[in-house]
Order: sequence, then C-alpha cells, then structure tokens
Amino acid sequence: MSTTELGAEIIKAVGVTKRFGELVAVDRVDYLLHENEVAGIIGSNGAGKTTFFNLVTGYYPPDAGAIYYKGEDVTRTTPEQRVALGMMRTFQLTSTFDNLSVIDNLVLSFFRAHKPHSLFDLFVNTCKRHRKDEKIQAILATFELQDVAGREVRNLSLGEKRRLEIAMAILAEPKVLMLDEPLAGLAENEIKAVLGVLRRHIGRQTILIVEHKISQVEDFLQRLTVMHEGRIIADGGYEECLRNPEVRRSYWQIDVSADGGAGACA
Ligand SMILES: Nc1ncnc2c1ncn2[C@@H]1O[C@H](COP(=O)(O)OP(=O)(O)O)[C@@H](O)[C@H]1O
Ligand SMILES: [Mg+2]
Repeated sequence: MSTTELGAEIIKAVGVTKRFGELVAVDRVDYLLHENEVAGIIGSNGAGKTTFFNLVTGYYPPDAGAIYYKGEDVTRTTPEQRVALGMMRTFQLTSTFDNLSVIDNLVLSFFRAHKPHSLFDLFVNTCKRHRKDEKIQAILATFELQDVAGREVRNLSLGEKRRLEIAMAILAEPKVLMLDEPLAGLAENEIKAVLGVLRRHIGRQTILIVEHKISQVEDFLQRLTVMHEGRIIADGGYEECLRNPEVRRSYWQIDVSADGGAGACA
C-alpha cells in the first residue's frame, strides 16, 4: 500500500516502554497502524512482540508512553473497554465453549457482540433459533467450517479451532483484528487454510499479525515491522526489510559487515 492510499490512523503507540524488573521488554516503541492495513510484527523469540501486543490491547499498562486508538488516548483503559471500541484480539476469544458445537459457538459470539442477552438466555434460546441465520451460514462458508459445523469444539483439529477463533472474532465486526502467532503449532496445510480465510478479509479489515517466522507470512503482509530486543529496527515492505542491514544482522544473524546492505527500510 503506498502512502497516498493509506487509510486513517487507527492505532498509534508513542514511546511505549515496558520493563520486567531490570529487563526492558519494550523500549520506547513508536508504531502506527492505518485502517485496512494488513501489517505484521516479526522478530526472534524474546524480541518483545507479545509484550508490545499486550500493551496495545491493554493487558499491561506501559511504564512510559501512550497508546492512541483513532486519536483517543486509551493508555489507561481496560482490555474490555478496548474491545468495546473495536480492538479485538483472538486470544481473549479463545474462550470457545469446548462442549458446544462450532455453529453454536459462532451464534454465541455474534450475539454476545451485538445483543446484550444474558448468557443463560443465549444458551437456552438463541442457539437453536439462529443456526440458520445468513451471517452465521456465510461465516461458516468463508472459514470453510461447514463440514464441522455440528462438531463439538473439543473434537476439532488445531487448524479448525484456529479458524473458528478467527471467525468468532470477525463476527464481532472489530475495527482492528489482532492476532498473536495465529499460525503457531499448525501444519503446513492448516497454515494455508488459515491464511486463505484471512486473505478474503484483506481490503475490508485492518489486521495486525505477530509472527515469529517471517517466511510463513511474507506474501500475506503488506507491511512488516521487525522488532529486536524491545525496539523496532525496521518498518516497511518485505523486500526493504530483507535488505535492511540491522534486520540481517539481528534477525537472520547474517554477517553484513562485508556487503553493507541497502537499508531502504526505515
Ligand atoms: N510477564 C513477564 N515477566 C517477566 N519477563 C517477561 C514477561 N513477559 C515477557 N518477559 C520477557 O520479556 C522479553 C520479551 O518477551 P516477549 O514479549 O514474550 O517476546 P516475543 O513475543 O517477541 O517472543 C523476554 O525476554 C521475556 O522473557
Ligand atoms: Mg510472543
């Protein structure tokens, strides 16, 4: 996405810092995410990706800095308040009901997000009534879950469960969908399936993905941000980041002293 096509600013982090004792897990990070961007944060283990993610979603208060959502300072708001604003992470929705079917989980997720029913009412009345709803049927098809619609969640494969979690998040119609390592633990074909369904939302959904392995998401992401030791060392297109000497040194541990690199990535 070129600069001229960028949507409005949706998430902004300014000088965000998080310490665990002596360790500075996230060190004065500035970050900007625009509407409809499909962006990724990558970095080796311990780079600070999940901690940054937790700061953005409100699980930790930062020791310094601020988080803005659509220009509003949300630094001191709770994760629930951020979800209500439209900032959704799949992690917290991993509260699938494992003894219920796939379709009933989808119905519950939809109604929890859109209608203030009591949970009891949802269980007793809503599931049965809304299994045939257009929205539910459409999401089953998009996420290729029709064949397992009636299956209890605890009997799903990891890949199917991951797709269900993302489907549940998307049913809540979030403004920004945030996924921390959505591909972790998945087999090659399941990775293809998860990325395949996410791809259908490109252009109408802001997506922020945190991943350890860049190779899995390289052709999916429009923009890459590389973290290392709590800091952002590169931000830009995939090719630019690949060429960045600091990324080559820190992430791929390539000796770049000889070729100098062509670090076009900011
Ligand atoms: N709750 C915690 N308490 C203490 N140290 C933590 C905690 N969470 C993360 N860390 C440390 O902070 C650093 C960054 O971790 P993390 O954000 O999980 O990295 P990543 O997700 O990139 O692998 C690591 O050194 C990790 O050990
Ligand atoms: Mg992590």
